Amino acid sequence: MIPRIYIPGDSGSLALGAEKVAKAIRAELAERGIEAKIVRNGSRGAYFLEPMVEVATANGRVAYGPVKPADVKSLFDSGFLTGGHHKRWLGAPDKIPFLAKQTRLTFARCGINDPLSLDAYKSLGGLKGLQNAVAMAPADIVKQVTDSGLRGRGGAGFPTGIKWKTVLDTTSERKYIVCNADEGDSATFADRMIMEGDPFVLIEGMTIAGIATGATKGFVYIRSEYPHAVATMNKAVEIARKAGVLGVNVLGSPNAFDMEIRVGAGAYVCGEETSLLNSLEGKRGVVRAKPPLPAIQGLFGKPTVINNVISLASVPIIMDKGAAFYKDFGMGRSRGTIPIQIAGNVRNGGLFETAFGLTLGEIVDDIGGGTATGRPVKAVQVGGPLGAYFPRALFDTPFDYEEFAKRDGLIGHAGITVFDDTADMLKQARFAMEFCAIESCGKCTPCRIGSTRGIETIDRLAAGIEPEKNLALVTDLCNTMKFGSLCALGGFTPYPVMSSITHFPEDFKPAPARVAAE
Ligand SMILES: Cc1cc2nc3c(=O)[nH]c(=O)nc-3n(C[C@H](O)[C@H](O)[C@H](O)COP(=O)(O)O)c2cc1C
Ligand code: SF4
Repeated sequence: MIPRIYIPGDSGSLALGAEKVAKAIRAELAERGIEAKIVRNGSRGAYFLEPMVEVATANGRVAYGPVKPADVKSLFDSGFLTGGHHKRWLGAPDKIPFLAKQTRLTFARCGINDPLSLDAYKSLGGLKGLQNAVAMAPADIVKQVTDSGLRGRGGAGFPTGIKWKTVLDTTSERKYIVCNADEGDSATFADRMIMEGDPFVLIEGMTIAGIATGATKGFVYIRSEYPHAVATMNKAVEIARKAGVLGVNVLGSPNAFDMEIRVGAGAYVCGEETSLLNSLEGKRGVVRAKPPLPAIQGLFGKPTVINNVISLASVPIIMDKGAAFYKDFGMGRSRGTIPIQIAGNVRNGGLFETAFGLTLGEIVDDIGGGTATGRPVKAVQVGGPLGAYFPRALFDTPFDYEEFAKRDGLIGHAGITVFDDTADMLKQARFAMEFCAIESCGKCTPCRIGSTRGIETIDRLAAGIEPEKNLALVTDLCNTMKFGSLCALGGFTPYPVMSSITHFPEDFKPAPARVAAE
């Protein structure tokens, strides 16, 4: 049997040099006259080990990483094609602690095989959920998703089954499934990883959503910064169509469902569902007032399910293994698993899928391994640019929607950014206001004007001008933005600002004191 070498081809691994490694391996194979099959898989998500090259041996897969092109010759000399030892040797991939500790439900297949091999997808349990769904009544599918406790992974944590029920119960000759793949939050890459590493699971989830709600057409709205995801999804849709997974008779059933890929134009606010719908319709990406809910009047005025990539990609396993199986994971009202994306100044950056309930400290210290710089962790921002900064004192907070909300935080899309003790939280608070000012769609005053006034006020604080008055002004402004904004861009910007002020008051002292303290 000819050797089989797996080299990730997803954009994260490419950014870390996977293409150069692939080129070096090909050249070495040619030079040594060895015939081998190179498979371009996705990433398993341990990005601190990427590019992670794997070889299939008689005793299973053996991984090496992070591999540099300069390592390639010595890898061959060490007999890596049969799993030989080398300084980059990691052993069996599923025994690598970062991967072994995970509970992979949604990401069960991600990074293992060629993402565009439908046979490989099926060989690892793919399409079983859809097969079950085509034999069920729509209301039963919706019930199963509701019973699983799945909540939207895009940020708001709204129960997926309830959203689907609204669309199912709304009569219309046309309904849509829209997948939100705008993934604009800082530190997040779960959607990209799935689209590039296991695209069929998203197609399967969207098709199930269509059958469950009576929608026959779906769109995936992918951010323009994800060209590899766009290319992979386009190819996967074509393959799924040819194989009869999509089309007029899904898996040979009377159900019809087809989908298309659409590319965004680079606005954070277009991740907000109504703004996304406007953008998808070819209009300016401005937020729409609700009601009407998109589930009743969404894309082109028709009932529309809008779900995040991970919400939809979690549905196949629910339809395969059952609601009770999924619901068994997690804590409180946060059921199932969540792909936590660990980034920023952290030693072990990557995606960690686990049941809800791990504490923030376990995630940052034990799994993330602390900061990459080796300095103490000062703050962790959870939930993207609109998420709160948590100090070490809150590291006992379990990863759970309600537990984070109790402490004035949010989980969002489960991205966490780690900062060491050199971070200046006043600058971070200013950045939050600046981000809001730049990304504001401009529809409502608290966000459009408030964010700019916020920057000016924080600048006055930094300059030591009337600190007490300006601190009170920022607090007042944050309240206005929180309660007066039309959407969560203006409404949540107070989280990073107020958490910085509350947990790191020393960083907001007048400038001379701050300089003296340094
Ligand atoms: C400013 C802003 C940006 C957002 N960006 C995203 C995004 O990039 N991806 C996403 O899935 N949801 C995003 N959301 C949340 C969506 O509005 C919506 O709640 C989500 O797509 C619903 O899907 P879910 O129920 O599966 O989470 C954003 C919300 C706001 C206010
Ligand atoms: S809060 Fe900001 S982004 Fe949201 S509708 Fe208002 S102006 Fe637009």
